[in-house]
Amino acid sequence: MRRKVIAGNWKMNMLPNETIEYIEKFSKLVKDTKNEVILCVPYTDLFYALMNAQDTNIKIGAQNMHFAEKGAYTGEISAQMLKSIGVEYVIIGHSERRQYFAETDESVNKKIKAAFSNGLKPIVCVGETLEQRESGLTEKIITMQTKLALEGLEEEQVKNTIIAYEPIWAIGTGETATAQDANESIKAIRGEVRKNYGEDVADNIIIQYGGSVKSSNAKELFETSDIDGGLVGGASLLPEEFAKIVNYDE
Ligand code: PGA
Repeated sequence: MRRKVIAGNWKMNMLPNETIEYIEKFSKLVKDTKNEVILCVPYTDLFYALMNAQDTNIKIGAQNMHFAEKGAYTGEISAQMLKSIGVEYVIIGHSERRQYFAETDESVNKKIKAAFSNGLKPIVCVGETLEQRESGLTEKIITMQTKLALEGLEEEQVKNTIIAYEPIWAIGTGETATAQDANESIKAIRGEVRKNYGEDVADNIIIQYGGSVKSSNAKELFETSDIDGGLVGGASLLPEEFAKIVNYDE
């Protein structure tokens, strides 16, 4: 049985003092869960989040990184920098980065490799636009993105990758894919992993759903056969609401 992994993506929200308050409240609400809990916070909150999550079951992630080891990349943060302060996870290839910051399948692949080289676990986002969905291209797009993201990785690394299937039309819109639809898309992604890396890797890889997950739809989504948890944006900004999502199975 795969574990459930539920990650919050704060995006460009929350200041250090809000981070400290949030974790104090949130950690009490999720302390008994057997699900894995991750908070992906802005760079400026990472240190405060790590300090305050120290004696809790909450793991901390970043939302992006550069693929180079170091060098003349003004304003960028490397995998080694994240690892050096104790960060465990990093979101790679979020659709907002693909859309606004010229992230490509190629840079996503390089970043995943750099993350693993430095001991970080990547949460890799794939997903189709509304236009692609309406043209019947969903499966083609998401399996291609998956293939290109994971290209050249070792089996063990693929097993330790988290994929987040996030249909772009469902992000921040209040529109959620139906649990059945999301499950079918995730089955297609798992099928692609099976084709390239075999049964064992496909059975073990964690594939989340993301896009307007809230406490009112989490249970239905997470109880399907192939959805292994969620990547949660807006609803992760409120500790009580996000705790209800994490505790969906209580
Ligand atoms: P949302 O965002 O939950 O606000 O739709 C999800 C995400 O972008 O990861």
